[in-house]
Amino acid sequence: MEIVERPAEMRRRAAEYRRRGQSIGLVPTMGALHAGHVSLLRACRAGNDICAMTLFVNPAQFNRPEDLARYPRDLERDSRIACEAGVDVIFAPGVEDMYPPGFAAYVTVEGLTARWEGAARPGHFRGVATVCTKLFTICRPHRAYFGQKDYQQSLVVKRLVADLNLDLEIAVLPTVREPDGLALSSRNVLLGPEERKQAGVLSRSLSHAQAAVRAGERDAEKVRRAIEAEICAAPLAALEYVGVCDPETLEPLERIPEQAVALVAARFGTTRLIDNVMLEP
Ligand code: PAJ
Repeated sequence: MEIVERPAEMRRRAAEYRRRGQSIGLVPTMGALHAGHVSLLRACRAGNDICAMTLFVNPAQFNRPEDLARYPRDLERDSRIACEAGVDVIFAPGVEDMYPPGFAAYVTVEGLTARWEGAARPGHFRGVATVCTKLFTICRPHRAYFGQKDYQQSLVVKRLVADLNLDLEIAVLPTVREPDGLALSSRNVLLGPEERKQAGVLSRSLSHAQAAVRAGERDAEKVRRAIEAEICAAPLAALEYVGVCDPETLEPLERIPEQAVALVAARFGTTRLIDNVMLEP
């Protein structure tokens, strides 16, 4: 496995892989790898000749400087995990490689980004869309892998690829969870022991919503309020939003049709967590 830092060098390699007729799979990450990332890496490894991973803590998508400052970083550990998962090449640029002085071109996805994470974190999706466009251009993947854990992000990336005619496929893989249901996240290590215990309420409330819908509940507002009440009953949870929405547009629903997605965000102390599930009658 090799680690490449310079965009020009990564582009040269990607061109070389393509010239040899090799398919390139890409898993964009910000490091602090866990089993959720590994499931993407395994799928990427299995589905492509070249398995590439990017490791870049993207300042442009952090709307709070303190979040960026305390984002967990450990290149050595991440390289070991990536290597074990069968990664061929890690592209790990520095901030100055990706955003040199004078950098001024950004990519925005409208509509989809107005709500939920977009509303809670101004500029976040502009940062994600910009860095993904750059990573796709540099690494030239045939396929890129994303997690359902960041559901809105996966929709934003699909929109970006469709609207800008980018020549790659986007694969979205299921959320990997802890035994108590908590969605794996690089931020989970920042939770105190009691916060960690109570954070299980997010996935629990979503599972209960899934069960209610399976049992015939179609009133979206009722489902939404039940999730809200369950999360608010955890003393350390500061709820940010609960949405029961259309899985394509993320517009809130009144009735639950064929499929809906329930989205939640809450803070436990200073750590912000998100989760989601599909609701299917
Ligand atoms: P990061 O948070 O490192 O996540 C990298 C990828 O792993 C994302 O596609 C995310 O959805 C996926 N992922 C995270 N937790 C997961 C879990 N529990 N189960 C399955 N997949 C999971 O998301 C980002 O980085 C950045 O925004 C990025 C796309 C790299 C752009 O900077």
